[in-house]
Amino acid sequence: KTCDPKKVAVVGAGYVGLGTAGLLAHLGYQVTGIDVDLDRVAQLQRGEVPIHEPGLDALLAAQGERLTWTTDYAAVADADVVFICVGTPPSSDGTPDLRYVTAAAASIAAHLDARPLVIVNKSTVPIGTGDFVQRILEDNALTFDLARHTVVSNPEFLREGTALADSLYPDRIVLGGSTEALDCMVKLYAPLIEQSFTPPPATPRPEGFTRPAVVRTTLQSAEMIKYAANAFLALKISFANEVAGLCERVGADIEEVTTGIGLDTRIGLRFLQAGLGWGGSCFGKDTQGLISAGDEHDYDMPILRAAIDVNYRQRRVVIDKLLRHLKTLKGKKVGVLGMAFKPNTDDLRDAPAHDLIQRLVQLGARVTAHDPIAMPRAAREWAHLTYQAADSIEAVFDRADAVIIATEWNEYRALDWAAMTHRMREAVIIDARNIIRTPLAAEIEQVGRAV
Ligand code: NAD
Ligand code: UGA
Repeated sequence: KTCDPKKVAVVGAGYVGLGTAGLLAHLGYQVTGIDVDLDRVAQLQRGEVPIHEPGLDALLAAQGERLTWTTDYAAVADADVVFICVGTPPSSDGTPDLRYVTAAAASIAAHLDARPLVIVNKSTVPIGTGDFVQRILEDNALTFDLARHTVVSNPEFLREGTALADSLYPDRIVLGGSTEALDCMVKLYAPLIEQSFTPPPATPRPEGFTRPAVVRTTLQSAEMIKYAANAFLALKISFANEVAGLCERVGADIEEVTTGIGLDTRIGLRFLQAGLGWGGSCFGKDTQGLISAGDEHDYDMPILRAAIDVNYRQRRVVIDKLLRHLKTLKGKKVGVLGMAFKPNTDDLRDAPAHDLIQRLVQLGARVTAHDPIAMPRAAREWAHLTYQAADSIEAVFDRADAVIIATEWNEYRALDWAAMTHRMREAVIIDARNIIRTPLAAEIEQVGRAV
């Protein structure tokens, strides 16, 4: 049997599904995006993009008839390849909640027929989920035939905020599964592997980029690679934060230190930025997910546990620094700059700013917070927090006793800091992302260095 993929279905229209659908349509495939969220699908059908991701609106708009959105799984019956891109949030015990993957697999099973179909798992899932999905397909399909219906693991490594460049110009494409199914995936991704597509205007090919490596593995190895990659990046950041704490105590500068170690190509400069630690939907969930996988096999993973401890300690350290300057927070006005977990996204999942605001309010502070993009979303998702949403950046500083920089948006880097601190009552700045470069007539605290 030959594989000649032309039609693709993408299940789940979140950060990963939207990017995957846009990418595959851009590579020339006929793509149907399927989501169970009626509002989300209606929005997409109207040409509105439900998340903030630079370049995504233009990429999706440019696809025209090649890309359609529906709530109807019938599109699976027509597809040669179907991607599962639904969420895998943590359950209360830290293990990944597979209910959306299970539901998606059961819905796909209902549309399996005699046509060959490759079912590709792009969601981040515990090792063994590929086999689990196959069992759901077997249990729920009228016809399931291992020779025609195969499950592949193709983990996603995109970062929010730079999702399109990460998807179009990846370092590597990891594919786990049977030889035949992987041959089919290599055929599907040929324009990406060979970089034969025309780059979208908003996302040009980086200078010097040639082509991604293709890593062919077993299902289990591909699933493990995703967790191990995120866990390694997370612990790299925690390492920088742990060393930063000691830098503060001995008078060293963490940025000089990370440059000095990162230029050793065995270490590398990236993901050594000390600050407020990681947030977002994945590093916390996936480090915990890997620890839970260890627990299932009675196998301890102390390095990962320590990486998590160091990460969440960073959020408390910021408050401790503030208390050292202000003594008490009762009745004090504290401004928070940045709510999203990182710049260039409106994603608020596990954002450090959430914990900061919550703690500040508990300690009696009046909090005014700002974000260039995420404020409307925060109004919906953080309604349980009692903070004032700032209608301008200036409003964060006006008569404030202290301001904390929680997310390093370019808008904040570009501020006239001298003018801003003039608006404050007591000029205490906790720059938890190390963005201020010039000395100011204010009390400034950074992480692992003195300004
Ligand atoms: P998300 O929460 O943004 O989107 C998930 C989407 O799936 C939602 O639109 C939801 O309505 C839809 N959905 C849920 N159940 C469904 C069903 N049965 N059928 C169809 N649609 C359904 O999630 P995300 O951030 O895109 O993450 C998806 C997966 O990819 C997760 O496993 C995550 O760990 C992984 N991942 C995420 C990123 C990232 O940067 N966000 C990067 C790499 C990998
Ligand atoms: C991360 C990984 O980088 C992606 O490869 C992966 O696909 C994704 O998780 C996922 O599985 O969802 P993402 O969370 O979108 O991507 O964003 P990152 O750029 O990795 O940043 C994560 C957090 O770490 C942010 O809060 C950021 O502020 C923080 N960070 C990052 C640091 O504190 N220091 C750094 O040096 C880098």
